[in-house]
Amino acid sequence: MAPGIVEEDMNFNLRKYNVSYNTGFMLESPLTSLPHYFEPWNHLAASVPSRLKTKTLRDAVHELPQLDHRQLVGHRQLRLAHLQLSYITSGYVWQDGDHGVPQLPKNLAVPLYKISQELGIQPILSTADLGLANWKLTHSDRPRDFENLECICHPPGDSEGDWFCIVTFMVEFNFSNCLKPMAHIIETLDTYETARDDSLNMDTTEDQVTRYLDELTDAIATMKAAFVKMHDNLQANTFFNVLRPFLMGWGGKGNPLPDGLIYEGVSEQPLKFLGSSEAQSGTLQLLDGFLGVQHTEDKRETLLHMRSYMLPGHRAIIEDVERRETTLRNFVLSSRNKSLHSAYNRCLSAVVNFRSYHLQIVTKYIVAASRHGVSGQHDNDDLKGTGGTNLIPFLKGLRSDTEDAATVPHDKKTKFSIKREVIIAAFVITGVITAINLSWVRSMI
Ligand code: HEM
Repeated sequence: MAPGIVEEDMNFNLRKYNVSYNTGFMLESPLTSLPHYFEPWNHLAASVPSRLKTKTLRDAVHELPQLDHRQLVGHRQLRLAHLQLSYITSGYVWQDGDHGVPQLPKNLAVPLYKISQELGIQPILSTADLGLANWKLTHSDRPRDFENLECICHPPGDSEGDWFCIVTFMVEFNFSNCLKPMAHIIETLDTYETARDDSLNMDTTEDQVTRYLDELTDAIATMKAAFVKMHDNLQANTFFNVLRPFLMGWGGKGNPLPDGLIYEGVSEQPLKFLGSSEAQSGTLQLLDGFLGVQHTEDKRETLLHMRSYMLPGHRAIIEDVERRETTLRNFVLSSRNKSLHSAYNRCLSAVVNFRSYHLQIVTKYIVAASRHGVSGQHDNDDLKGTGGTNLIPFLKGLRSDTEDAATVPHDKKTKFSIKREVIIAAFVITGVITAINLSWVRSMI
């Protein structure tokens, strides 16, 4: 639990969403091995990096017994099993680089598919596995930081592959600090809505929301601060040529398996799935939803597609925040308080900053790397991310939508302030009518 946060003390209950104030979207205390019955999976997952080097992973998969996934108990066992099997699957399909095999044997395909159904995610390695359920502490008595985090399943690229995951873990962990100010703002706005108080209430609410927005801005800044570390131990060449091919999905134009992958024992038709992308993490989608950033239809469609790779709880929290009647953005728009507007805009700028930095990372690790190590800024509209997007236009568009959400205080009365005055007027009229009624009753007795 992060210092000072007691989960039960917060009205906005995150448990039902499989999210925590302590770890955000990251799985809390992931298991590192499955019970004895699943030892063949434990063993094979641990040997993936060496078997990829000797190109013997496929042979080992063919030896794997058909295990009964129904022996798994509880969410954490299911998550580890999904991580192990989807990780072995990526290795199996892409062992020989770009020439993927079109068919996954049923000893892997069936349990992977069934476990995915139970978890409500897709039967492929995704951020729910590699980014959110793949971490452990080197020393359990020391804090979470870059030096004390390790991967459970090691992606290719040795220490560089691990570093890609460790930086991702830290960005996700730092995101968890956003949840408390977000929850406080939600609570404050709900109280304001139900109190239907005098105008003083509006001023107090504005001050409180401003303060929590500043906390949120600081937390978003720590996400970027962690992201900056990517350069410390990941070369563009390793990402582009070693890691990225392993993270690829199957199906679609330009993919080595354009028709998809046949999951033996599941479907005779090949199935298509996106590769692993942090776009499948709930972090930025939740921030967008909370801040009221609107994305145009085509981009929103892509983001919604990414949501089908998230755990159902992670999708649900984004949807519930998007559906809220009393939104932060409407509250800010209804206010003439300059400090509130500035705090809201600073928060948006922190998200823009994160997205700008992410664009720099993508330029270095994909755009420049694809041009054989030529560094510098290149725009390449044809390049696709592991999540299959036309990456640069897509990412730039998301950033400019965030910029466009900035507000300016104005003098006109808006829906929110009009509503407040209507409520006050209703109170006054009710009071007058009650007084008249009372004096009439008195005159009758
Ligand atoms: C070498 C490191 C990284 C590269 C090359 C990279 C690349 C990409 C690409 C190409 C996309 C577009 C979607 C797709 O087709 O996959 C994307 C989306 C995204 N990535 Fe990354 N990424 C990296 C690291 C990270 C990390 C560490 C995070 C945060 C934990 C992150 C967060 C996101 C988010 C939130 C999106 C969705 C777009 C948005 O909301 O702005 N990425 N990334």
